Amino acid sequence: MTIREMCRPVLLLLGSVACLAASDAAVAQADGAASAERGAYLATAAGCGMCHTDTAHHGAWLAGGRAIVTPFGTFYTPNISPDPRYGIGTWSDRDFLRALRSGVAPDGSNYYPVFPYTSFAGMSDRDILDIRAYLLAQPAMPVMNRPHDLKFPYYIRWLMTPWKILYFRQGVLTIDPSHSEEWNRGAYLVRAVAHCTECHTPRNEVGALIKKRRYGGVPATPGERAVPDITSDAAALGSWRIDDIASLLKDGITPNGDVVRGPMAEIVNGTAALSDADRHAIAVYIKSLPPVPPVQGTP
Ligand code: HEC
Ligand code: HEC
Repeated sequence: MTIREMCRPVLLLLGSVACLAASDAAVAQADGAASAERGAYLATAAGCGMCHTDTAHHGAWLAGGRAIVTPFGTFYTPNISPDPRYGIGTWSDRDFLRALRSGVAPDGSNYYPVFPYTSFAGMSDRDILDIRAYLLAQPAMPVMNRPHDLKFPYYIRWLMTPWKILYFRQGVLTIDPSHSEEWNRGAYLVRAVAHCTECHTPRNEVGALIKKRRYGGVPATPGERAVPDITSDAAALGSWRIDDIASLLKDGITPNGDVVRGPMAEIVNGTAALSDADRHAIAVYIKSLPPVPPVQGTP
């Protein structure tokens, strides 16, 4: 037996290992691309780019810096591009899951709920990691984060620890078997991904959602437009058909011909990119929302 012959099985073995490795890599790459594509769809519905891009000042995509004015002060969104220094380039899957599901930063500090992790927490691991794959496929932007400009005492970040204990319940949304598959898909999009709840529900003095008035709308305040009640109350969407809601999510036009403005116009940019089936599912779920009790006392 020559050395060559002796080596043949080894070479064959090595060759097939190499082949397997190569095909694994190809599969992983294809999975990665499919994952990023699914992630792009979800990220659009979730408005990640909308909040994390300072469009008003021609800021770079996902590089943060958009100002969000609240009663607690002004927040500036951070850079979530894959930049290793200023973005999330060095984050692990676990870091990313923890941020979206638990509102906890890699250094263990807690995020403010102006980052709607309070809703994103309901997303599946797969959906969150697909969003991460999409973000990592975007250009890295070396743009430094701008610190928030918050009032006392809200700039004390650890106050978010008791806040979360009081108001934050994490956990992936579960299927409600008493409803259709479509309703459940709608619930998932409304409550977790597209976080409709966060704007259409009034908040208490420390910024937590008032659960019993879920989707009941928020009256106008100086400088802020009212957020309408979107329950099935007669004065809200009671007379809207499911298709009226679905079509508003596509073109921003209400049944009486008004065009939605302000924050809802930005939301419609996202929902317009969804499939007809997903918009219909959202509408089915919204149409099922029970009316909320009227506000007690003086507003
Ligand atoms: C309504 C605006 C808004 C939307 C929508 C939003 N974010 Fe954010 N996000 C924020 C703000 C504000 C912060 C900063 C929170 C803080 O400092 O506590 C933040 C923080 C983060 C962080 C932490 C970054 C860091 O450097 O620690 C990540 C990661 C993140 N967002 C990812 C996402 C993803 C992914 C999406 C879409 C699924 C998304 N965000 C949608 C406003 C938003
Ligand atoms: C960033 C805050 C915000 C989010 C998130 C949001 N909305 Fe809105 N929505 C508004 C505001 C503000 C208006 C009022 C727009 C106007 O005054 O033109 C509105 C209007 C609407 C209307 C029209 C109601 C009417 O009576 O005219 C519907 C329906 C609606 N939203 C559904 C949704 C759904 C479904 C989602 C989730 C996919 C959602 N909204 C997410 C802020 C938001």
